[in-house]
Amino acid sequence: MTAPTQTPQPSPLQTSIRDLQQQLVVILDFGSQYSELIARRIRETQVYSEVLSYRTSASDLRRLSPKGIVLSGGPNSVYDDFAPECDREIWDLGIPVLGVCYGMQLMVKQLGGGVERADRAEYGKASLHIDDPTDLLTNVEDGATMWMSHGDSVTKLPEGFEILAHTNNTPNAAIADHDKKLYGVQFHPEVVHSIGGQALIRNFVYHICDCEPTWTTEAFVEEATREIRAKVGDKRVLLALSGGVDSSTLAFLLHRAIGDNLTCMFIDQGFMRKYEPERLVKLFQEQFHIPVEYVNARERFLAKLEGVTDPEEKRRRIGHEFIRVFEEESRRLGPFDYLAQGTLYPDVIESADSNIDPKTGERVAVKIKSHHNVGGLPKDLQFKLVEPLRKLFKDEVRKVGRSIGLPEEIVKRHPFPGPGLAIRILGEVTAERLKILRDADYIVRQEINRHGVYHDFWQAFAVLLPIRSVGVMGDKRTYAYPIVLRFVSSEDGMTADWSRVDYDFLELISNRIVNEVPGVNRVVYDVTSKPPGTIEWE
Ligand code: XMP
Repeated sequence: MTAPTQTPQPSPLQTSIRDLQQQLVVILDFGSQYSELIARRIRETQVYSEVLSYRTSASDLRRLSPKGIVLSGGPNSVYDDFAPECDREIWDLGIPVLGVCYGMQLMVKQLGGGVERADRAEYGKASLHIDDPTDLLTNVEDGATMWMSHGDSVTKLPEGFEILAHTNNTPNAAIADHDKKLYGVQFHPEVVHSIGGQALIRNFVYHICDCEPTWTTEAFVEEATREIRAKVGDKRVLLALSGGVDSSTLAFLLHRAIGDNLTCMFIDQGFMRKYEPERLVKLFQEQFHIPVEYVNARERFLAKLEGVTDPEEKRRRIGHEFIRVFEEESRRLGPFDYLAQGTLYPDVIESADSNIDPKTGERVAVKIKSHHNVGGLPKDLQFKLVEPLRKLFKDEVRKVGRSIGLPEEIVKRHPFPGPGLAIRILGEVTAERLKILRDADYIVRQEINRHGVYHDFWQAFAVLLPIRSVGVMGDKRTYAYPIVLRFVSSEDGMTADWSRVDYDFLELISNRIVNEVPGVNRVVYDVTSKPPGTIEWE
């Protein structure tokens, strides 16, 4: 079977990076789950890297003039009907290329070598036996464990190529055409199980592509400042501050770039943790000298939730009210030309997965994650967007935040849901319940901080149940709410495990809550992981 010819098309993302000051290594994405990870690994070497569609044409690549190109892995076999192919002219650009797994097989196929289904698919760890320890494999130990995941194998090398390394099952585990600076590896150097994988990536980036370590936090801040000024000029920008690391970093960068033309608006819907609104405003005004328009909307949000018990309806009303307040306040404070959004790099990656229908090979709509509460603004309130964090991964935002002086309490803050405590009070939200939960939650935070275990958890918080149980205190019967403690560990919030905490620690928190928070007479601990539970209770 021969793959139909596919014409590479220009990618919309390229316009956003054409003005790039940084040296660049491009990853062409063939649908691997690790494409983003390759970008992160390269960025860890302080060289900027972006993931582009495999359809990016050679002429677009020439214009971008990357120092190197990585072809990612992918789920296909190079002989599949609609196997994705890159522009064949990239081999003649004179730019070094590293093909990873599928990327290597495609390189071999397009350059006249042979790829066949292997006798045995190879998944998992394999020892890499090094035949040529120069350039790509410098500092990679002979016998190093590398992580394999492939069904096809390279059976014949294209002209000019030689073997750099093999494994017991794979004779051509790493190959090179040194003169043309074309390299291929059958394994995945980007995953943590590949020992020496990062050394290989460094070799590619520094020795083969001749990059310099220019992707640093300081360089990013300088470049972002320049870009914001060039884009926004002396126009006015509105930013909805939430107190999280993204919007806080955003505020700092924008204020640095355009000063008073930035307006930070903080809408207090009344569902934040105890003292947080006050602390946030104080921090920004007094420590950063960034003015914040504080909007106290507590009453109106609470009124909207009166009598509402359905979780989705609560979320819907809060989201809707947020937009209404935002709209009114931005009219009052405006007009504004731009709205600042905390879009991050994973939101804008143009991935092969989302571009190609696997059945027909047709290009389909690019998936853009909807995020932030201001997505549903009315038509007459449309702003132009400024998104200075769009090149960053989350951990890079943290680094930038830290470098510009955001305190650790913001940089490493646990995730906190937009609807806040309203979805941690099950059933109807009332002023009384909010006070109880806020006080109980505050005790949890105090004890976690006091014991120095804040960073042991992905999240740790209290939930209030809208039922009452019987207890006894000081010879008197009580009939009051239970509080649930929800402490979890997680990598990304998609799955989570309940945290195994010390019983004495739990007892301490339980005693304090029952003794200090009127209206609570019982504390329970949630021992459900996600799935089947979710982290939040609503
Ligand atoms: P669940 O409850 O689905 O939560 O396991 C996963 C992660 O997402 C957070 N979360 C939210 N974050 N707005 C947010 O910004 C929301 O509406 C929202 N709901 C849940 C939750 O805290 C956890 O980290």
